[in-house]
Amino acid sequence: MSCFTIVGGQRLSGVIAASGSKNAALPIMAASILASRPVELRRVPQVADVQTLGMVLNDLGLTTSWSGDVLRLETADATPIRARYRLVRRMRAGFCVLGPLLAKRGSAIVPLPGGCNIGDRPVDLHLKGLAALGADLRLDRGYVVARARRLVGATIDLSGPRGPTVTGTANILSAAVLARGNTLIRGAAREPEIVDLGHFLIALGARIDGLGTSTIEVAGVEQLGGANHRVIADRIEAATLLLAAAISGGEAVVTGVVADHLTAVLDKLADIGARIEFAADRISLLAEQPPRPVDIVAEPYPGIPTDLQAQWTALMTLANGRSTVEDSVFPSRFQHVAELNRMGARIECARGVATIDGAGQLCGARVTASDLRASAALVLAGLAAKGETMVHRVGHLDRGYERLDLKLRGLGARMCRHNLQDHP
Ligand code: EPZ
Repeated sequence: MSCFTIVGGQRLSGVIAASGSKNAALPIMAASILASRPVELRRVPQVADVQTLGMVLNDLGLTTSWSGDVLRLETADATPIRARYRLVRRMRAGFCVLGPLLAKRGSAIVPLPGGCNIGDRPVDLHLKGLAALGADLRLDRGYVVARARRLVGATIDLSGPRGPTVTGTANILSAAVLARGNTLIRGAAREPEIVDLGHFLIALGARIDGLGTSTIEVAGVEQLGGANHRVIADRIEAATLLLAAAISGGEAVVTGVVADHLTAVLDKLADIGARIEFAADRISLLAEQPPRPVDIVAEPYPGIPTDLQAQWTALMTLANGRSTVEDSVFPSRFQHVAELNRMGARIECARGVATIDGAGQLCGARVTASDLRASAALVLAGLAAKGETMVHRVGHLDRGYERLDLKLRGLGARMCRHNLQDHP
């Protein structure tokens, strides 16, 4: 595992391009199982989770080849149906191969995803939707063993106790496109990443209406072809970069991102006093003053994304007053709080709400990342802290951010990556 050392106090400034979206690329890669002809995906982020899913797909008979940020996938052998436990355990989005395998090959053996640092991650809604499409599912020693001669269209309600399921919607949508007859998905996720998956499926020849709404209609087809698709920009990475500029008291222009995908976030950034401007494919932020305290509740899209609440918490440690952060999607997603408090933050968590007493001075410290977005929060805190911060286990960060250290250095951050043996 490598670590970052960050010397805080540097005001960021500059222009940086957002990478392709990890959370769009992963379900789209899984859905490539459905294609009867080659698929080319552009702007695919070179992050660990994408590499891991590539290995899952190789096990399932797809060849994967890279040319820059273009990933080409083609089915060379359509018989393997078993996804490797060691890979899916590492990257739970591997569970998204279940729907496409069932639809295309009629059977699948996929490990149930295990536990996760950000909270309870059941897949009951995925299984409910596939069963409604006529799949025969059973659990066998930690695997879902699924069979279906031909899926049959159905009306499915995917709404769950904590809002829609993003990858559950991806799994069911990717299965329904080859089912016989029509499928109506109620309580579907509205995230831009699901809309992007839907656009990819339509490029393959699928017939889908209602993308971006909570009711998606699918008219099943007999076969899907190939496609050439450009993945949308990563809105979470883009917002993380904007928050990095904000926490440093600096400025940044993030290009390639769709501002409409971050409306709720941009509204909150304006509320804290940042100057926000945006055009079709770029967002700029100027932090002219310390942030004002502003409360947020992380919610399903179009609300504030849960994948941003840790980074927001780091920013609010500098606000001149008290603010709260609540996560309605993953109520216990606060692993980053203890490490931020070790840097001098004053945050208390109770009943799923983090209360932040701001206006503190963060002090550099040795901290340890616990998950992807918590590690981003610690990096942002390091940018603002007095002195040097060492963030350990940044492998978590590399799962979903494409060389964030290089991007932040490009904006003027004083940080570098070390191999662990340099800093025992
Ligand atoms: C996706 O995870 C994202 N991952 C997560 O991003 C993101 O935090 C999450 O959606 C919420 O936006 C990918 O897209 C690869 P969910 P997913 O199913 O699909 C409950 C990151 O940092 N639920 O939308 O696994 C669940 O417990 C990652 O990039 C059920 O109850 O999340 C949660 O409370 C972390 N039953 C809520 O729904 C189910 O069958 C939303 O979960 C499925 C989910």
